[in-house]
Amino acid sequence: MVRNKLDVLIPEDRIQARVRELGAEIRATLGDVPITCICVLKGSFIFMADLVRAIGGDVRCEFLGVSSYHGGTKSTGVVRITQDLRSPIEGRHCLVVEDIIDTGLTLHYLYRMLQMRSPATLHTCTLLDKPVHREVEFKCDFVGFQIPDEFVVGYGLDLGEYYRNLPYIAVYHP
Ligand code: PRP
Repeated sequence: MVRNKLDVLIPEDRIQARVRELGAEIRATLGDVPITCICVLKGSFIFMADLVRAIGGDVRCEFLGVSSYHGGTKSTGVVRITQDLRSPIEGRHCLVVEDIIDTGLTLHYLYRMLQMRSPATLHTCTLLDKPVHREVEFKCDFVGFQIPDEFVVGYGLDLGEYYRNLPYIAVYHP
C-alpha cells in the first residue's frame, strides 16, 4: 500500500488514552448494569474491541451489518441491514458503537430502528465526529474526537477495504 499519502491525524497513544476515558465515562453514566454493545460493521470493529475492554464489568457484544447508502439511497437515509443482531435487545441497556458520524444518516436511522425494539436504554458512541457534512441532526452521547473535513483512514476506517489495520487515524491525500 502507498503510505506516503498518509498524514497521522490522531496517533495511537491519543486514541488509546481517549478510548480508556470513554470506557470510564460510559460505565459511570450507565452504572453497574450489563451493557449490550452493538458494533456497526465494518468500520467499528477495532474501536469496539478496545472500547468493550475499557468499559469493563458485564458487557455483551452484538454485531450489526449495514450496507452503505453511499450507493444511491443517500437522499432517503435508508440503511439496509445485511446482518441483524443475534439476540433480542428488549429490556437491555444498549450502546451503539460507531467509528464515524459524517452526514449522520446511518446513526439516525439505526437509532430509530433499534429504539423500536424496546431496549431499556439506548445510548450511542462514536470515535470520530465530522460535523461539516451533517444532513440530519443527531446528538451522540459519547464522542471521542471531532475531526475536520478530511478523508480519514485507519483504526477500522478504510479506503477500498485497505488501511483498517493501521493503529492510528490518518488523513489520506489522493
Ligand atoms: C461509515 C461509518 C458509518 C457511516 C457514517 O460506514 O462506519 O457507519 O459511514 O456515515 P454517515 O454519518 O454519513 O451516515 P461505511 O459506509 O464507510 O462502511 P464500513 O463501516 O463498512 O467501512
